[in-house]
Amino acid sequence: MSTFAPDVNLPAVYKKKTIQTFRQKKERNEPIAILTGYDYPTALALDRAGIDAILVGDSLGMVVLGYENTVPITMEEMLHHCRAVARGARSALLIGDMPFMSYQVSVEQAVSNAGRFLQEGGMHVVKLEGGRERLDTIRAIINAGIPVMGHLGLTPQSINALGGFHPQGRTTIAARRIFEDALLLEEAGCFSLVLESIPARLAEFISKRISIPTIGIGAGAGCDGQVLVVHDMLGLFDRFIPKFVKKYADLHGEMQRAFGEYIDDVLARRYPAQEHTVEMPEKEWQSLLGEIAVDKLK
Ligand code: KIV
Repeated sequence: MSTFAPDVNLPAVYKKKTIQTFRQKKERNEPIAILTGYDYPTALALDRAGIDAILVGDSLGMVVLGYENTVPITMEEMLHHCRAVARGARSALLIGDMPFMSYQVSVEQAVSNAGRFLQEGGMHVVKLEGGRERLDTIRAIINAGIPVMGHLGLTPQSINALGGFHPQGRTTIAARRIFEDALLLEEAGCFSLVLESIPARLAEFISKRISIPTIGIGAGAGCDGQVLVVHDMLGLFDRFIPKFVKKYADLHGEMQRAFGEYIDDVLARRYPAQEHTVEMPEKEWQSLLGEIAVDKLK
């Protein structure tokens, strides 16, 4: 059995989501809902909730591993988390995010690393950042039979070139470049396109002019779908919350409350209580005490 075989206990009624589902949804004007996921229990919950796709984003470097940005995360770290997600998800399309320097060095290396996401990580497709400068790489990965999701606008792996996590495409020149890149990525064969942190009217304009679904994050309501970082929307990561995030829970606060209650219980000897304790039949206990007493006499 592969190391990322899905949980056999999941109900068999789950309908598999594919890149065709994405296309059909765009044709029918039905929004696509995506969240990131980095581990087995979250993948189970996302899949059971009916999410269209789970993105194992390189954002995991920040929200799970505590790096300053997404630059340091490696292929091995990404694949480790991809496998965990693949074990939990049965229905969602699984998107592996290619980390910094896994696809920039050469086209051959990019194809080989993209293949690892499918063979070793259990992903169905890959995502990579960039526009016109990545066309050869994207075409080669698609030619190898691996669907590619593009990513334009704020591309966090280029944070050192962009000078920070700032919205992109706010001038005529910058907006035009993003629009042209979107057309080029569509032509290169990307099945979908993430638009991150760009003006809403630009994102809507692009979404109406390309045939592949756009997935927005901080790009307004005019995209064909939306994606959020799961730790942001659950309120699990409070170091930095972008303006566009809607918080659906405060799990960090809830964790702190639970941890505090546990510490209080232990200090006050309220935990463990009787119901958390394993008992031994009195007869066995007396027999043990008897045996130990006899052993001591020997
Ligand atoms: O890594 C990630 O989570 C992403 C999303 C922000 C689209 O790339």
